[in-house]
Amino acid sequence: VFLTQDELKKIAAYKAVEFVQSGMVLGLGTGSTAKHAVDRIAELLRHGKLTNIVGIPTSKKTHQQAVSLGIPLSDLDSHPVVDLAIDGADEVDPDLNLVKGRGGSLLREKMIESATKKFIVIVDETKLVSRVGATGAMPVEVVPFCWKFTQDRLQGMFGYAGCAAKLRRDAGGEPFVTDNKNYIVDLFFEKDIGDLKVASDAILRLAGVVEHGMFLDMATTVIVAGELGVTIKNK
Ligand code: A5P
Repeated sequence: VFLTQDELKKIAAYKAVEFVQSGMVLGLGTGSTAKHAVDRIAELLRHGKLTNIVGIPTSKKTHQQAVSLGIPLSDLDSHPVVDLAIDGADEVDPDLNLVKGRGGSLLREKMIESATKKFIVIVDETKLVSRVGATGAMPVEVVPFCWKFTQDRLQGMFGYAGCAAKLRRDAGGEPFVTDNKNYIVDLFFEKDIGDLKVASDAILRLAGVVEHGMFLDMATTVIVAGELGVTIKNK
């Protein structure tokens, strides 16, 4: 039997929700994979199989979804410690480092997923890569002020990796605006960027940068759904 990519995403999501226990403060991820996890959590709440859950949404979109499903919500100000976060990713490398944000959310995700005790990442097998940046954009959230200056500085910073930096635009050609009213510069690499921690620190030191989509050393578990079944990788 062939499963669609969306069916695989759902399988990974449902598996992750098995780790949710009543009474938990939960980071609710963003994207087409995490959406299935949020749906499932709501279903278990409705059936009384989970109780006393507090959700912390990682984007406006997930906030809307959770509100429409009746999941009780809070934020990091009121709940600075999160028990478990479940979220998708665009890339997962062999050390469980991630690229996130191709769907446009990354800042709230990183804040919440840095505050969680356990972070389960849910992906279908197409997201597994040999190195970060192998399959596409590495998103960087920047302030709108002089975004071109920041874009050029980012491209120059990774000249050694054949970097092309591109402002993300919406369908109408206008700059894509994030939940926190910033822009996104997507970095495309021709070659390996080398030490990820060094690259991360360099990006974050650049004034004008708010955050980037490399999530290093954050995932505690990755659940991968493939045609041959589910694999669970632990850090
Ligand atoms: C949102 O911008 C992201 O960080 C998502 O977690 C990531 O893009 C994965 O999304 P999908 O599950 O839709 O592939």
